[in-house]
Amino acid sequence: MESIGIGLAGFGTVGAGVFQALQQNGELLYRRLGVRFEVRRIALRHPTKNRPFPAPEGLVTTNWRDLIADPSIRIIVELMGGTKEPFALFRSAIAAGKTLITANKALLAEHGAEIFQLAESANVPVFYEAAVAGGIPIIKSIREAFVGNHFESIYGILNGTSNYILTRMTDSAMDFHQALAEAQSLGFAEADPSLDINGWDAAHKAIILASLAYGFWLNTNSIQVEGIENISPLDIRFALELGYNIKLLASIRSHPNQEIEVSVRPTLVPQSHVLASVNGVFNAILINGDLVGESLLYGRGAGQAPTTSSVLGDLAEAALALTFPRASGGFKPHNLQGRVKDASSSESSFYLRLNVNDRPGVLAQIANILGNAEIKISSMLQPEGADADHTSLVFMIHNAPTGTTMEAVSKIATLSCVEANPVLLHVQKKEERENSH
Ligand code: HSE
Repeated sequence: MESIGIGLAGFGTVGAGVFQALQQNGELLYRRLGVRFEVRRIALRHPTKNRPFPAPEGLVTTNWRDLIADPSIRIIVELMGGTKEPFALFRSAIAAGKTLITANKALLAEHGAEIFQLAESANVPVFYEAAVAGGIPIIKSIREAFVGNHFESIYGILNGTSNYILTRMTDSAMDFHQALAEAQSLGFAEADPSLDINGWDAAHKAIILASLAYGFWLNTNSIQVEGIENISPLDIRFALELGYNIKLLASIRSHPNQEIEVSVRPTLVPQSHVLASVNGVFNAILINGDLVGESLLYGRGAGQAPTTSSVLGDLAEAALALTFPRASGGFKPHNLQGRVKDASSSESSFYLRLNVNDRPGVLAQIANILGNAEIKISSMLQPEGADADHTSLVFMIHNAPTGTTMEAVSKIATLSCVEANPVLLHVQKKEERENSH
């Protein structure tokens, strides 16, 4: 019987999940792989913290360096969160030749280029399936199953917490804060939930997918990120009336000249689109490859058990890599000309909501600004309200350049009849999916 020593760095929701799952499914892994994984050390930042599942005392250390110094530990599973300490751990672990597994998307999005360069030079494998979309095997799909494809686009829902919140706001008329508290109590949210809400958790995942698919490591500053913090129940209701659900969409699209466009933003998705019915903590990713066509991956994007499932998959691969060393450290640059496209130059359809003081001529003033910018209105909604002086106006804008639309909306915001900041959201075109069949 071969036994492989593991060091766990971090014992939060996922760390404890991995420890328990190795006890629960260890025998199954042994029968399938012929190896036993043995947790030899657990590094904790706060050993006295009250945990639903406490770490066995004999294994605990407060210094992750003890994991690296232990020659019986061959694989380190980094589940600490944050980026500074994990980055230091990665450098030391790579230098010591330890195989690494991580669920840390912020770490890879910020330091991926350096980490994979170091890993490649040292011939140390790094696995990170759990970093993107919880239990969905998206990394393996892009790296292995679809490796023979050029990717036209990869887009979908990459954050479980925000999808949970939007779903609860849509189906149960919950307010934002109630829905967030529920998501946190279920263990979906990050330690700092602001990353789930402001779009950056999904953006880190999109950066990892885009880098892997297009072969160059993207800079975190080069992509467009908007969160769901300003989505109001009013927008959810208007979107429903217009036949859409609001989703936080991460989108990666290729353009000519090796340019790719990456964004994360709340988007009105037509109810007929498959992503509109991805609810709760579920994630879904549509991959368009030149050979495979459109392929959908769907599953739980957050939570202890699904994320643990991905870590166990990586452990199995890591065990194999220890027996048959791999050539790649986890990411191979293959497109040195690749660039990120400036999103303001691309076209999109939009939903624009304004709160206005309802006087004669208001509509004409707004339409005038849009008309002068050559922006076409495809439909409009003005609900009959009880209040004769104030109303919402909703415009659906057809295919307009993003930069021009934003400029026009800034002008509209300065009109004296406009009472609050305009809400401008992207709209997934209804025909897009039909065309891609
Ligand atoms: N907080 C993340 C989410 C968990 O809600 O999707 C996994 O990255």
